[in-house]
Amino acid sequence: ATPTPSTAVPPVPPVPPVPAGPADGPAPAALDNLSTEDRRFPPDPAMIAQANVGSDVYAWASADRPDFWADQARELLTWTRPFTEVLDWSEAPFVRWFADGRLNAAYNAVDRHVEAGHGERVALHFEGEPGDTRTLTYADLQREVSRAANAMASLGVGTGDRVAIYLPMIPEAVITMLACARLGAPHSVVFGGFSAEALHSRIVDAAATLVVTADGGYRKGTPSALKPAVDEALAKGAPSVEHVLVVRRTGQTVDWTPGRDVWWSDVVDAASERHTPVDVDAEHPLFILYTSGTTGRPKGILHTTGGYLTQAAFTHRAVFDLKPETDVYWCTADIGWITGHTYVVYGPLINGATQVIYEGTPDTPHRGRWWEIVQKYGVSILYTAPTAIRTCMKWGDDIPASFDLSSLRVLGSVGEPINPEAWMWYRRTIGGDRAPIVDTWWQTETGAIMISPLPGVTSTKPGSAQVPLPGIAADVVDDEAKSVPDGAGGYLVVREPWPAMLRGIWGDRERYKDTYWSRFPGLYFAGDGAKKDADGDIWLLGRVDDVMNVSGHRLSTTEIESALVSHPSVAEAAVVGASDDMTGQAVVAFVILRAEAAALDRPAEEVQEELRRHVAVAIGPIAKPRQVLVVPELPKTRSGKIMRRLLRDVAEHRTVGDATTLADSSVMDLIAAGLSAPP
Ligand code: PRX
Repeated sequence: ATPTPSTAVPPVPPVPPVPAGPADGPAPAALDNLSTEDRRFPPDPAMIAQANVGSDVYAWASADRPDFWADQARELLTWTRPFTEVLDWSEAPFVRWFADGRLNAAYNAVDRHVEAGHGERVALHFEGEPGDTRTLTYADLQREVSRAANAMASLGVGTGDRVAIYLPMIPEAVITMLACARLGAPHSVVFGGFSAEALHSRIVDAAATLVVTADGGYRKGTPSALKPAVDEALAKGAPSVEHVLVVRRTGQTVDWTPGRDVWWSDVVDAASERHTPVDVDAEHPLFILYTSGTTGRPKGILHTTGGYLTQAAFTHRAVFDLKPETDVYWCTADIGWITGHTYVVYGPLINGATQVIYEGTPDTPHRGRWWEIVQKYGVSILYTAPTAIRTCMKWGDDIPASFDLSSLRVLGSVGEPINPEAWMWYRRTIGGDRAPIVDTWWQTETGAIMISPLPGVTSTKPGSAQVPLPGIAADVVDDEAKSVPDGAGGYLVVREPWPAMLRGIWGDRERYKDTYWSRFPGLYFAGDGAKKDADGDIWLLGRVDDVMNVSGHRLSTTEIESALVSHPSVAEAAVVGASDDMTGQAVVAFVILRAEAAALDRPAEEVQEELRRHVAVAIGPIAKPRQVLVVPELPKTRSGKIMRRLLRDVAEHRTVGDATTLADSSVMDLIAAGLSAPP
């Protein structure tokens, strides 16, 4: 019998009832305990009456998907050369949408609103963490973006050149992205929480010529430096980089490389506020965004202009029911993630929205900061992640209750499955039992929302993303790629190309085909397990590959394993995502020490802390394991593949499952024994 190491591993409370994604395929148990949820929240008649999108749109879209998207592209965007071609799938899985059309993303996001007489409308209400604020109208944004584009051009940035952006959530982040788009220079935003090493590999992979950064940003009440990470990254060798453009945010002292480093205030503030946007082809690259995959090397996901902007604008308008004249929209995502790209920068600005951007954390200087911001700006649409909702829930109802949240009319969720308990709390405590919740499923690769309820159409169900959007052919299939019947589980796929789909992995055509199109030929495989309930609604079950989801952030098990193995004390490492009440999943690492390191007999906590810190330095603090367990062996199949499923059982404090395919069945006993004894 396989022992349960119940005394060895601190108990980890399971996340009820949405299970974390098993790496070896959706676990039957996971499928069974779902969809006993029978609460329904039909849209309110007033919401239906005024909704941007009604139920008729599904039939319209499915009658001719490409034609539907072409209508959206014409209606929602301004083209300098109208397209005549719609969809080209002749070289599948490489796709082209609206390929003979030309346009500029920044013109669509900014200038045309000014030209239409909305220059005085607020585009950005910026709230800094220390309490400083800035308001930028669309006319202000046009001037700022034009200045930045002129300055970047003077630093040598031309159409097609890549620009790396490593900034806090300040207006300059949005301005820089749009300035890149204005020049037709693809941006590669690197989340400010990533390490110098992670930044370095991304700069080198994209061969960026300019890096835009800041001295630092405010986080949890203190200035947190960014420029030193850029210096360190460039010191590792990045020959493509000609300049570093530095925004002064915190006033921290910075090291300076003359000739290379340039202050934003010196070149941008001095530049002309007039700039003509560069027309580009619809398929011109708009940005690269790196994300974790199943191998150790992050993938540069490539998005282009016309199709991406079409779906960004359509989904933002339909899913959040945006009314640009009256709504105040707030998406809490950082621009370092795809959510920040599509639902802070492109979607809302293309639609002419007024939005809030906030630099800091929800608990600085107090745990009501978010609700204070909602009250202060009269936020009517809020889009955030389940992990944040669960955290606020833990802090208690009395905090949001002490603010006026009556302006909220639509609530969104993204990044990971939302458990029904958090969903209900969000609806009642934040949404006053009135605002519909839209649980939006999508990915860096899909570019924009793919599955979500519509606020004026769908009767919502706590915990389910429910229905593919109009124009999206998502489905759940079994191992043989056959569509599963209602009530059954399987793998989430997309059957037909969609406008915002990734155009590939930067510099690696083959990896794109292998990663997304080889598991089920002809179908895009998303990496997620899913189930259809009795009504045919889709429930997401988490990843079925070696990708973890920690607080809605995507992390690769392999990447963390490589980081651990790069430490001189570590011989072998296996990482799993274990269920965690607060973060959805948490990183748990199993390591075998090298004989020399083990012989030193150092206290376990010291070794564990050192390895946790090592991962934070290699990748970033978000990848830091919650636990590092030193073990004598790792469970492997006869072909040498680590059976993470068994390790997850250990990490989640469960009876270890079927271990019959192990090459050496005594390994799990050894691990249990090793865990109970000091390493
Ligand atoms: O597993 C799914 C989960 O997040 C993954 C995509 O991560 P990323 O590319 O970083 O993009 C996150 C923001 C769009 C998916 O494969 N995921 C995202 N949204 C949901 C979700 N899981 C369940 N429900 C969601 N609403």
